[in-house]
Amino acid sequence: MRVIICGAAGQLGSDLVRVFEAGGKEVLGFDLDLDITDHSLVMEKIPSLGPDLLINSAADLDADQAELDPEPSFRTNFTGTQNLALACLEAGCPLAFISSDYVFDGRKGGAYNEFDEPNPQGIYGKAKLASERYIASILPRWYVFRTQWLFGKAGKRNFVKSILGGAREKGSLRVVTDEVGTPTCTADLAEIIYRVCTSDWHGLYHATNEGVCSRFEFARQILELAGMQDVPVEPIVYADLGLPCPRPPYSPLDNMNLRLQGFPPARHYMEPLREYVEWLLESGEL
Ligand SMILES: NC(=O)c1ccc[n+]([C@@H]2O[C@H](COP(=O)([O-])OP(=O)(O)OC[C@H]3O[C@@H](n4cnc5c(N)ncnc54)[C@H](OP(=O)(O)O)[C@@H]3O)[C@@H](O)[C@H]2O)c1
Repeated sequence: MRVIICGAAGQLGSDLVRVFEAGGKEVLGFDLDLDITDHSLVMEKIPSLGPDLLINSAADLDADQAELDPEPSFRTNFTGTQNLALACLEAGCPLAFISSDYVFDGRKGGAYNEFDEPNPQGIYGKAKLASERYIASILPRWYVFRTQWLFGKAGKRNFVKSILGGAREKGSLRVVTDEVGTPTCTADLAEIIYRVCTSDWHGLYHATNEGVCSRFEFARQILELAGMQDVPVEPIVYADLGLPCPRPPYSPLDNMNLRLQGFPPARHYMEPLREYVEWLLESGEL
């Protein structure tokens, strides 16, 4: 099986490369060396490589900048995916796309499963939902994995690093209580994607670790695991930050479709979080 991974240098992409290679698959990883927004380049390159599967983990994650200047975000997060879907159509292979809890408004008052109606509130979420729909409308075989709050070894920026870095530099933190979700380890997510994409169960999946917390609770847990529990954390609300992109206030994802198809349950996020914080402290990555 030949697998192309776009966004292969990112925190999820690098774990996808490792997991698919460990499973004996032939992996061709691309990042900015194959700009997914370049239609001619994508169409020239991808079908000629003869992939059996393409995974798009490339994205522009700056949801706040997207509100200020929507076109670059739509270009990468929608047009880039559109290009890859057209290339997959030509190559006759399925596309796996990584989407987000930002497709929901977060006002349901409970965890979202795959049967809940999306209602994105910002540009990033709108681009993700438009990509999901485009892929499903033109490809006979596709996978969509909605996930959230990623942390992984190749992450240049993620919440865990921001909390530990901020605690060290400033000695105190302010963290929101009104954003609730599930922290998800990219190594665990890559394993889920591997299992599903090698099973031929095409379709839409919510894919996160288990457990639910607010950003505030998550920050306290990170500090405790790092032995920095004395760092004061002031609870605030999102409105205090004045950020342009509205966040879904309560958007844990229920992995219902993975359960329905009989895939094993994911670990509680505290397990990989403990491993990750230990690794950050030992490796000097902070
Ligand atoms: N991180 C999260 O909390 C989160 C939550 C929900 C969903 N997701 C989704 O999960 C996927 C993986 O996220 P991640 O955290 O692994 O992101 P990441 O670490 O930023 O990885 C994305 C990679 O794509 C590259 N890239 C950006 N624009 C590109 C382009 N036009 N052509 C080719 N490559 C390009 C990035 O390069 P540069 O870094 O140099 O720009 C980066 O190496 C994304 O689809 C994201 O939307 C992430």
